[in-house]
Amino acid sequence: MKPVRRGNRPITDAEAFALRWRRVRRDLVGPVSRLYGGVCDHEALLERMRAMMEGHWAKRPAALKALDLWRDLDPEWFLSEEVAAYVFYVDRFCGTLKALPDRLGYLESLGVRYAHMMPLLQPRPGDSDGGYAVMDYRRIDPKLGTMRDFEAACAAMRERRISPCIDLVLNHTAEEHEWARKAREGDPHYQAFYRMYDDEAEPQAFEASLLEVFPEQAPGNFTWIDGIPGPNGGKWVWTTFNSFQWDLNWANPEVFLAILDTILHLANRGVEVFRLDAVAFMWKRMGTTCQNLPEVHDILQALTQATRVAAPAVIHKAEAIVGPRELVPYLGAGRHEGRASQLAYHNNLMVQFWSALASRDTRLMTHVMRTHFPERFRRAAFAPYIRCHDDIGWAITPEDTAHVPGMEAPAHRAFLADFYTGQFPGSFARGADFQSNPETGDRRTNGSFASLAGLETALEAGDPEAIDLAVRRILLGHALIASYGGVPLLYMGDELGLLNDHSYLDDPARAGDGRWMQRPAMDWERAAEAPDTDAPHGRIWRGTRAILATRAATPQLASHVGTRVLDAGEGVFAYERLAEDRPVTCLCNFTDGERLAHVPVPANAVDLLTGTAPKREGDAVRLAPYAALWLRA
Ligand code: GLC
Repeated sequence: MKPVRRGNRPITDAEAFALRWRRVRRDLVGPVSRLYGGVCDHEALLERMRAMMEGHWAKRPAALKALDLWRDLDPEWFLSEEVAAYVFYVDRFCGTLKALPDRLGYLESLGVRYAHMMPLLQPRPGDSDGGYAVMDYRRIDPKLGTMRDFEAACAAMRERRISPCIDLVLNHTAEEHEWARKAREGDPHYQAFYRMYDDEAEPQAFEASLLEVFPEQAPGNFTWIDGIPGPNGGKWVWTTFNSFQWDLNWANPEVFLAILDTILHLANRGVEVFRLDAVAFMWKRMGTTCQNLPEVHDILQALTQATRVAAPAVIHKAEAIVGPRELVPYLGAGRHEGRASQLAYHNNLMVQFWSALASRDTRLMTHVMRTHFPERFRRAAFAPYIRCHDDIGWAITPEDTAHVPGMEAPAHRAFLADFYTGQFPGSFARGADFQSNPETGDRRTNGSFASLAGLETALEAGDPEAIDLAVRRILLGHALIASYGGVPLLYMGDELGLLNDHSYLDDPARAGDGRWMQRPAMDWERAAEAPDTDAPHGRIWRGTRAILATRAATPQLASHVGTRVLDAGEGVFAYERLAEDRPVTCLCNFTDGERLAHVPVPANAVDLLTGTAPKREGDAVRLAPYAALWLRA
């Protein structure tokens, strides 16, 4: 590698690239040699990567290079207390990409700095798993617009300091993707992009230790595809999700290069955050569940570090919906510390929120959050959320319930599934089972935030007290994700309390997938009323906006500040944000009654959300039903 000589003049573009490559190469050599050293000359592979990255850098638009420089100097920009995200489907939010710039004012008024547009690359026709079966990564779904519209929408977001985020599905492509098409025709180069088998011996051997993601709609992990040239007139193809989603073979360095090429191409169109979909499944090894294998972390580090060279403004968010132990490495553990994806979904906080809400008991939550997660990460943070477009999987382990007297994991999981489908006596929730697996007893749950939190049943009953409690539960959730640390993800409609949507049942391409229940269209009428009405949607909207505004004005809530979980008794979840100047103590009452929290709080502390002093009783703080308090001296 030639050294870069410093001159007495501003750095040139080419020198900037060369310096970044030098800085990052040492974080690429390890993963690339471990992943591919056995199948190719990894030095030559690194050279191909460098050439490809240099090509993208040369074509990167000036406006994005300007952003690169800002972010190079402020690489932890996403950890700021001002960064909060909004997650939405473009069609359900505003129709098309062309219409999006006119709706950015709404996001701005809520306090959003990061906009996740749900899958928008060209999906296969018909059922596309909500856009997660992509047939062309370089085209926008024609229903939403063109690549030009996308670039214009990204530019409009940049103007307002909102970072555009899109999904990149890298575990699988649609069977209609060009790579899959060529593989089907018999092209060996592209057959090696997937995992294909002439007979069922190997698939069956793998199945012995694999789990099923969609046991109801797509049982098994392999699909027989007729007509692929071979001795048996077809081949078995690895399909973890639906049969039309073919798993990519990441053991092939050509797949790595092709996806990196895709990332950098899209980064140059204006993407600032890539949500890397279903990453847990990317590497396969016989005799394992083929989830969370160490190689996955090498792939993610290599993709993140390569992106830092050719598009430094861009960060990655890993979507790994896994148990607590498996989750932490996605933000960089051991050799990957400070080098992995910058963000990862905090599905465990999400599960614990719903678990504590149903049981009015925070002991499991306190144990899980305290035991499994470090107080902070290096150059990375979680993305906490309460709801998203997917179902809730009750990831609760016996090892954790063992710490709560009287609680057992299978019974608690069944209780949660019963509670949130409304079957449990006295439940306020209205949701539905998803992918029940009679063999394992596993049941997952669908439903919108508001319906699961009791707003639907309360409105139906016309019961003002129940409505009030539901609103409080929703604001408790928003306050939790806004203060816990990490980038809070607000899911479209949850700022207005949108209820379950059953209209998907009328659309044959969606009717088979109950997750559409929590993907309602945006209700702009309600949004327009929200600032002034006393109806639930007004209270929720104004409460959410106030929560995000308070967060943005509180540097102690930034994501680089550590979070320590405290013990505050059975119904209260408490944590301290460990700022060196003025730490913030956050208290969440998960019950419908008043509660006392016995945690040390400075005498002069004020609740930042209301600007008032908390009610005290001796050394304890008194909390109203479902109250969230952020106490700072
Ligand atoms: C992710 C998505 C989910 C999709 C799956 C397969 O988990 O969130 O909606 O079904 O990946 O792409």
